[in-house]
Amino acid sequence: MSGSGMRSVSIGLPTEVKQGEQRVALTPSAVALAIQRGHRVLVQAGAGRGAGFPDAAYETVGAKLVDDAAEVWSTDVVVKVKEPQETEYAHLRDGLTLFAYLHLAAEPALTTVLVDSGARAYAFETLTDRHGLPLLAPMSEIAGRAAAIVGAAHLSSVHGGSGTLAGGAAGVPPAKAVVIGMGVAGTMAARGLRGLDAHVTGVDVDLQRLYDHHLDGTIDATQVSEPELVGSHIRDADVVIGAALVPGARAPVVVAEEHVASMRPGSVVVDLAIDQGGCVATSRPTSLAAPTFVAHGVVHYCVTNVPGQFPRTASSALSAAVAPRLLHLADDVAAGRAGTHDGSPALPGALNVADGVLIHPAVADAFPQHPRSDTT
Ligand SMILES: NC(=O)c1ccc[n+]([C@@H]2O[C@H](COP(=O)([O-])OP(=O)(O)OC[C@H]3O[C@@H](n4cnc5c(N)ncnc54)[C@H](O)[C@@H]3O)[C@@H](O)[C@H]2O)c1
Repeated sequence: MSGSGMRSVSIGLPTEVKQGEQRVALTPSAVALAIQRGHRVLVQAGAGRGAGFPDAAYETVGAKLVDDAAEVWSTDVVVKVKEPQETEYAHLRDGLTLFAYLHLAAEPALTTVLVDSGARAYAFETLTDRHGLPLLAPMSEIAGRAAAIVGAAHLSSVHGGSGTLAGGAAGVPPAKAVVIGMGVAGTMAARGLRGLDAHVTGVDVDLQRLYDHHLDGTIDATQVSEPELVGSHIRDADVVIGAALVPGARAPVVVAEEHVASMRPGSVVVDLAIDQGGCVATSRPTSLAAPTFVAHGVVHYCVTNVPGQFPRTASSALSAAVAPRLLHLADDVAAGRAGTHDGSPALPGALNVADGVLIHPAVADAFPQHPRSDTT
């Protein structure tokens, strides 16, 4: 029993199976918080190893280490980083509460499996608070910083790029970068590219956001997000960063194929929005093992788990944001409040699927073939 007299629940922390994924959703100190609250935590052996957290660190705080993924998935609440992969679909079942990144608008097969399974699925990326999207923001911050690094690096001829150095040289203008969507990820990418002395144009539908960024010097120029106007900047761009988001929905396609085709050969697209389907028409998902492809002579970097390659930083940042919400979710599951449309008041916007029904309105809009909650 927990200190509050509430029923305790079991929490499972599986090892990630997505290609190249080294993150873990909870650090040992976060697991300690759940155990102090009276919950039981099962950690799959090796879950934290890639992020620098050995099994012994979890055992020391009182977690039970298990080898078998199925045993971890048999707990009341499974918390993990990436959306379940095909090999994990068999673990999804009635009575399970899942708390993870889901990106369902870009995952039709997973959505069908979740609806059919009866599981309750809470998505990190749609949870809202008065500041925005608190469980997406830490990874967007990291992915944005990484996008500046990989974008500039792939301009090198060694990586098939045009051989343009981001900052230029005396008498030679800098590279031109266009950032689509000046939210958390776009802002960090713009800062990184400006730090390399590239010329950065920020694109958004939110004019107030563009105004603020222009005033604070994050970007050199602003452009409202109208595809034809954006296209004229894309033609001259050396690097395009895709980071536009409408929470829960498929990403808006802001850059048309003809605009990609108009770019100089060896220019680079880094489409972070690929996890929601991509905001560049020519984007398709790639992996950390094979991160790029070339289309119309343009190098495309469309990795769906960019922070997965920085697991030490990313796991600590993610765990810090997830842990307090997980404790609320576990309390709600213990009290029988979770899974109802107005349940889990501490996790507004996070519930995507429950009892065979799509709950989040934008996810439900993306899949009209599935039943949706009456209240969405
Ligand atoms: N690939 C990865 O590994 C990875 C990692 C982290 C985040 N992401 C993704 O990056 C994307 C951005 O996340 P974020 O946290 O920065 O979101 P955010 O909500 O902070 O910012 C999104 C921005 O997009 C703008 N926008 C919406 N529609 C637009 C349009 N049509 N044209 C231009 N701008 C538009 C919004 O006004 C907002 O400023 C998301 O899809 C997120 O899932 C990807």
